[in-house]
Amino acid sequence: MITQQTIQQILSRIDIIDVVGSFVKLKKRGTNYLGLCPFHNEKTPSFTVSPNKEIYKCFGCGKSGNTISFLMEHEKYSYVEALKWLANRYNVEVEETEVSAEVRAQQQLADSLYILNGFAQKYFSTVLFESTEGQDIGLSYLKERGFNEEIIRKFQIGYCKEERNAFVTVALNNQFNKDYLVKSGLAALRNEELVDNYRGRIIFPVHNTTGKVIGFGARIIKKNDRAPKYINTPENEIYVKSKILYGMYFARQVIDKYNECLLVEGYTDVVSLHQAGIENVVASGGTSLTTDQLRLVKKYTNNLTIVYDGDKAGVKAALRGLDMALEEGLNVKLVLIPDNEDPDSYVNKVGAQAFRDFVAENKKDFIIFQLEVAMQDAGNDSQKKAAVVNQIAETISKVNKAEDFTRQQDYIRQSAQLLKIEEEGLNALVNKFIREKVTKLENKMAAAEPGPPEIPPYEESHPVDTDEGFQLLLKDELQERAVVRSLIEFGLKPWDDHKKVAEHIFEELVDDDLFDNQQLLEVIKTYKLWYDAGLEPTAKNFFYHEDQQMSAIVVSLLEFGYEVSEKWKQKFRLPVPGRDDTYREEVISTLGYLKLRKIKRLIEQNQKDLGLPHSIEDQMVLLQTHQALKQMEKDLLKDLGTVIVR
Ligand code: GTP
Ligand code: MN
Repeated sequence: MITQQTIQQILSRIDIIDVVGSFVKLKKRGTNYLGLCPFHNEKTPSFTVSPNKEIYKCFGCGKSGNTISFLMEHEKYSYVEALKWLANRYNVEVEETEVSAEVRAQQQLADSLYILNGFAQKYFSTVLFESTEGQDIGLSYLKERGFNEEIIRKFQIGYCKEERNAFVTVALNNQFNKDYLVKSGLAALRNEELVDNYRGRIIFPVHNTTGKVIGFGARIIKKNDRAPKYINTPENEIYVKSKILYGMYFARQVIDKYNECLLVEGYTDVVSLHQAGIENVVASGGTSLTTDQLRLVKKYTNNLTIVYDGDKAGVKAALRGLDMALEEGLNVKLVLIPDNEDPDSYVNKVGAQAFRDFVAENKKDFIIFQLEVAMQDAGNDSQKKAAVVNQIAETISKVNKAEDFTRQQDYIRQSAQLLKIEEEGLNALVNKFIREKVTKLENKMAAAEPGPPEIPPYEESHPVDTDEGFQLLLKDELQERAVVRSLIEFGLKPWDDHKKVAEHIFEELVDDDLFDNQQLLEVIKTYKLWYDAGLEPTAKNFFYHEDQQMSAIVVSLLEFGYEVSEKWKQKFRLPVPGRDDTYREEVISTLGYLKLRKIKRLIEQNQKDLGLPHSIEDQMVLLQTHQALKQMEKDLLKDLGTVIVR
């Protein structure tokens, strides 16, 4: 834990213009600063930073917060990481309370490795550009492959001389410790003598998401059948292969912005694509993806597009374990590069635009792809075919239904078509797998100890007050009106086998405070009264209601109904569905947006609270609340089947 004193020092030195300004180009406009919002795509600036209030707000996408929440949002830092970043920027020495000797030793070891790697990276870069051997062998090789100097410098690529121990000698002269040299993989012990491990190789530094060098990939230059093409850093305290995606440091913001991550196999694929201006790309190192790597992607986007060369082994490796991606809620697409090319050679051959077009036109959903491969393998063997059906049903059962309620159904339909089997049969099979999973989960939960206490619900400790800051939102009755309109228009239609739409809406609206407009609430209450009494309320009942206000409001609702929902949907750039057969979606989305608004308000209130002076414990709670609310918001948006367009 960082001490209170340190945190106070950091907070007292924060300069929001300086911090935000280091990620966003800001121009002074009156007392505030203005720039292009980093959280969504825009051409005219609506991202405002107030140095007095120490907050930012985007009037385009609504994102707002303080310096710490900016770092957490923009850099995906945790609270502590954000503090450390600030401490580093403002030269505040971070004091941490009571870490065990063991933890401290670990941290020191990690720090030493970072320092050694940073030193090695600079050394290898210098050798590449400034030594004769580096230029003649390393640089000329890279240039021949089409890499320009700018990209070589950006990725901090270097060269290790062919000498036995050129680097080791320099490192030892600079007081680096022998054990660390071995641990880092930079040197190896041969007959009790330290020798360079990457002799005569091109050096690709591997960065973590904050830009520190955690390891290296070293590519051989001269053809040699006995030596491996690449030597990678061995696992150590800071290089944990299962958590690394090469290039993420350079790609993360672009991935966020375009809401898609391209995944390739190799170092050179990443560098070449970046050079071509395709920057939302990372590499896995050719092995199958791990859950940690998928989670890393998920920090930035839900859309993962795997771009591999068409050779079978690579593709099989890529597909292995991808069921996990479904459970993580990722949309995985696959593109195979043709003609024995890999992404590196292909982009060099056809150029950036043709590459992009190829990916866009050829990306295929990975489940369908997997099915096609399996069907080919099975051929006419009926036993194998049955196994394929089982396999695909199990895979589809892993699609997280809450993420998108139509997606699973789509898969079932498409797969049934491909397999030429009855959709209903496949559906039943999928449900069987889902039930099995649920049962397993329940058993597991029953067996488990009670977990740690949860953070108490926000509202209990912080009642929402509706003061001036909310005026804008308060005026916004769109969602309320949409719900009431749905009730009146669709209330008597079936919701499912057991109940009608009206009953569903009543169940969802247990919370009266979802509504600000008391008149609208009155309409709902009146409807319920009639409905419970066995009437079948229609718009007409309201038009002729003795309460003139109620009549007027229902008239206005139905008159402006379309505009109301369209406006809100445009905000999220959703297709507006046709009305008749899509009323369930309509009801789901209007209720969803009402809840979304409430969450947005809670976020807004919470962020206001964050701006006030607090004890650090309270600040932590507020930030945790912020994250929890953001998660709820995200989940809800996903439920709505929408994508946040950045
Ligand atoms: P170039 O052939 O120079 O274009 O490199 P590449 O990145 O295209 O290599 P390739 O497609 O053969 O391999 C893809 C990735 O797999 C590499 O970037 C490495 O991460 C990894 N890899 C390839 N060969 C080896 C090897 O011999 N040992 C290890 N540990 N990893 C390798
Ligand atoms: Mn290659």
